[in-house]
Amino acid sequence: MATINSPLSGDAKTTTGTCLQGALVDLIDLSLVAKQMHWNVIGPNFRSVHLQLDEVVTLARRHTDILAERMSALGMNADGRSATVSKSSQLAQPESGWLESGKVVSAMTDVLGGIGRRMRERIDLTEESDPSTQDLLIAVNQDIEKQHWMFQAMS
Ligand SMILES: [Fe+2]
Repeated sequence: MATINSPLSGDAKTTTGTCLQGALVDLIDLSLVAKQMHWNVIGPNFRSVHLQLDEVVTLARRHTDILAERMSALGMNADGRSATVSKSSQLAQPESGWLESGKVVSAMTDVLGGIGRRMRERIDLTEESDPSTQDLLIAVNQDIEKQHWMFQAMS
């Protein structure tokens, strides 16, 4: 069996892995929550909210793959299993059924705000442990905070 050597070891590896796995769970669940809202939103501004939510899904999926493959490149295993995401996600879940657009905008604003706060913590933590990973997390956070602005502007 092939062996994947890690350029990191000790605390640097542990810290970087924890940050990447946490970001991975945030982004996987963000893609699921945003799709659920995309399908079930109703009310004023339906079309703009519906389409904006799909922008969130697209960016979440793109960054998910980059972060998971960064874990592989560091000799660690990304865990994107549904049970893992369900157990460890901190995102508030939408209710079932139709979702009123104003509440969707407010809920997505809160979700993106929470993810942005956690990304900034991970950016601080990876500054020393692995600056290359920090670069990726900075790119994620730029997109998260852009969407956070846009959802605040819609409310
Ligand atoms: Fe769609």
